[in-house]
Amino acid sequence: MTDNAAKPEILVVGGAGYIGSHMVQELLDAGYPVVTLDNLATGHQDLVPGGEFIQGDLGQPELLDELFSARLIGAVIHFAASSLVGESVQEPLKYYRNNVARTVELLDAMRRHNVSNFIFSSTAAVYGEPVETPIREDHPCAPTNPYGVSKRTVERMLADASTAYGLGYVALRYFNAAGAHPSGRLGERHQPETHLIPLILQVATGQRDHIKVFGTDYPTPDGTCLRDYVHVCDLTQAHLQALEALLADRPGGIYNLGNSTGYSVRQVIEVARKVTGHAIPVAYADRRPGDPAVLVADSTLARQQLGWQPRFETLEAIVETAWRWHQREAGMMND
Ligand code: UFG
Repeated sequence: MTDNAAKPEILVVGGAGYIGSHMVQELLDAGYPVVTLDNLATGHQDLVPGGEFIQGDLGQPELLDELFSARLIGAVIHFAASSLVGESVQEPLKYYRNNVARTVELLDAMRRHNVSNFIFSSTAAVYGEPVETPIREDHPCAPTNPYGVSKRTVERMLADASTAYGLGYVALRYFNAAGAHPSGRLGERHQPETHLIPLILQVATGQRDHIKVFGTDYPTPDGTCLRDYVHVCDLTQAHLQALEALLADRPGGIYNLGNSTGYSVRQVIEVARKVTGHAIPVAYADRRPGDPAVLVADSTLARQQLGWQPRFETLEAIVETAWRWHQREAGMMND
């Protein structure tokens, strides 16, 4: 597609959430018209950086019909999901409803309106406990919780829908999404917050006293879990490349998105101390059930086939952007 060709309108479902809001920004920057659909169950309307906003739920087929009838949508990027591993064990049906059943409704509406390009947020949780690391896309999928099962189920549905109806799709398996938009205006606002980097930075802003380290007896160099942290803007860059591949009728597929480097919980805390200048006190706690010791991606396929090139490869760069956002959220930084 040439730069001056009119770009099709893109529907971002879940565009008021953490990764979705960064995606809306990425699309606007690339010149795409955007409509966001979000039920605001966990999203925040003030984080939608532009385009059109519709508050609504995928469980409302009439709303979807109206939305697709009134616009010529070129592709749908679907972020809306419940995404807490622990909660998925306590409330599995919520996960099958929000992540599987609602995606069926969305795909069905797309089919009714002949929209045939779909990009889906998947996760490293589809693999379960890794038997080999770094993890490639052909690693066995044996998810160990309903969240991972729900995402894997949608991946299977997409393959079937592709065969049956010619749906073009890309599923992106994120490892540990982290960081914030370099402007400091978009970032992670979860309630409750459960992720490591935001929790650490909330200690640095004075909102928490200490960070708990879950487990120090893992078979890793310093005894804490290793994770592959990938910057949210690098994730959205991959979605944009996936979108452009689908719009150009290139084949879709499933891709891991990670930096291919594992950082331990202790290393993340150390980097955050350097970036923030705060001591960040630590309390050691038991292992958190269900945490694999090491989760590191092999993302060669995304680099080769999508042309993906992460721009924030170091943990310092990732934490610095997140720190800008958290200071602003805590009212420590003015415009
Ligand atoms: N951790 C702590 N203390 C905390 C929070 C986290 O020590 O207060 C540790 C965890 O035990 C883990 C690491 O920090 O070792 C990262 O934990 P996060 O909760 O930030 O992220 P997860 O690795 O649990 O989650 C990620 C994705 C999920 C995905 C999951 C797959 O965010 O979407 O990997 O296991 F499902």
